[in-house]
Amino acid sequence: MTAASRSPSGASTSEASQRSRLVLGNWKMHGNLAENAALLEALRTGAAQPLTAEIGVCVPFPYLAQAQSALQGSPISWGAQDLSTQEKGAYTGEVAGAMLADFGCRWVLVGHSERRSLHGETDALVADKAKAALAAGLTPVVCVGETLDEREAGSTLAVIERQLGPVLALGAPAVGRMVLAYEPVWAIGTGRTATPEQAQEVHAAIRQALRQLGAEQVQVLYGGSVKAASAASLFAMPDIDGGLVGGASLVAEEFLRIAAA
Ligand code: PGA
Repeated sequence: MTAASRSPSGASTSEASQRSRLVLGNWKMHGNLAENAALLEALRTGAAQPLTAEIGVCVPFPYLAQAQSALQGSPISWGAQDLSTQEKGAYTGEVAGAMLADFGCRWVLVGHSERRSLHGETDALVADKAKAALAAGLTPVVCVGETLDEREAGSTLAVIERQLGPVLALGAPAVGRMVLAYEPVWAIGTGRTATPEQAQEVHAAIRQALRQLGAEQVQVLYGGSVKAASAASLFAMPDIDGGLVGGASLVAEEFLRIAAA
């Protein structure tokens, strides 16, 4: 490895070029049958043009069958926003990874900040969910991110390290089959995006941790108020491999423009 082939982040250019681009939509608790049908149809039509990034949508559980039938045979993949740590049994209200796989899911979000803050999900639970997803043949998209207070206290990287700890402890073979997403909590749904430099700083630290583990090829997405206007400068950063998009994923044209960025 020559010095010239390393980016300022320490990432080698060949390493970065081996990672493909991925843009995932997180619909959160939005949609209904009629709105989804229009959105899925528009995405499918838009994705008939060659795409520079792989794209997927993570939809609410009741609409998995709808996403499956609308997107099957298209280049767009789909997934869910959460899963149980358990395989099956007396867990009222829970949804198992195998059930998601039954509906053709490729992705499942794990540890989204709204799950952590509103449902008390701990770092250890998030790692258990990631493990359950892998066991079901799904790709977990493990989300991490600091709050505004944590950023202002200067503890951003320590928070990310703590959140990732139990996930990275699953080892390189497991982590190598995951996707990670850095989503600063203060940027989610607020219209306040991290600057490309702020995001890159954290992505570089995550990449370094992945490299130490021997899993540097893992895709690391950025999320938090990504819009078509901000996507290109974020995705140009050496350690940002795409986006996890909330609000803007509900508008087909905007989401497709982000994927083209
Ligand atoms: P946002 O959401 O794009 O609406 O900020 C991102 C997310 O929560 O995944």
